Amino acid sequence: MQLERILHAQGFGSRKLCRIMIRNDEITVNGEPCDDPNADFPTTGLTFTVRGEAWEYHEKSYLMLHKPSNYECSHKTQHHPTIYSLLPYPLVARDVQCIGRLDEDTTGLILISDDGQFIHRMSSPKHKVPKVYEVVCKHPVDQQQIDHILKGVQLVDEDAPIAALACTRISDHVIHMTLAEGKYHQVKRMVAAISNRVEGLKRIQIGALKLPNDLVVGQWRWLTDKDLQLLKPDAA
Ligand code: URA
Repeated sequence: MQLERILHAQGFGSRKLCRIMIRNDEITVNGEPCDDPNADFPTTGLTFTVRGEAWEYHEKSYLMLHKPSNYECSHKTQHHPTIYSLLPYPLVARDVQCIGRLDEDTTGLILISDDGQFIHRMSSPKHKVPKVYEVVCKHPVDQQQIDHILKGVQLVDEDAPIAALACTRISDHVIHMTLAEGKYHQVKRMVAAISNRVEGLKRIQIGALKLPNDLVVGQWRWLTDKDLQLLKPDAA
């Protein structure tokens, strides 16, 4: 693919702007400077720098972000900064979207992509991708409450009771809850239905993909092929 098209496809601006950056000696490709906008490169494994910043070519974007508290999962936010402000501008320009929103006070694993089919597969209720939440509860959690969550709790506006796929007591106040759905405030509403209250909420796993220990709050990274495998339905 021509260098000018590569930069444009990776979110670095209009074809004209990309051409100007190339002619201005602002680009290196696979470690070598290149000032020819028409120079042709195979995109597989391609690395490049733009004004000294290193990039890898990705035909589609698949990212994970460790969402901090007090960020909103929306492009047009109301009270807090958007999670998209934590991503570099070229990724935002590629019109990436988060897959399933977390509340502004929820932290943890969030997936972001510009691949419509992937977004649909991961978020469609039909596919029931399990998500695991670490929940800090206000009151100690007993076995009766766990059993209730596993049997199903009736939420306002829902026709039938909703059960967690799994619910494990980690300590007096902390449980791990696995949900197949992603309904509005689902964890908070389910915990309220057992007469308790969520004081802290973190998503720690989607499918078989865990939030990596070394991904610090506010940081993002590309999903690897292995990560993508872990998101497939038979990987869990
Ligand atoms: N359930 C909630 O209540 N909030 C979230 O952010 C995610 C799941």
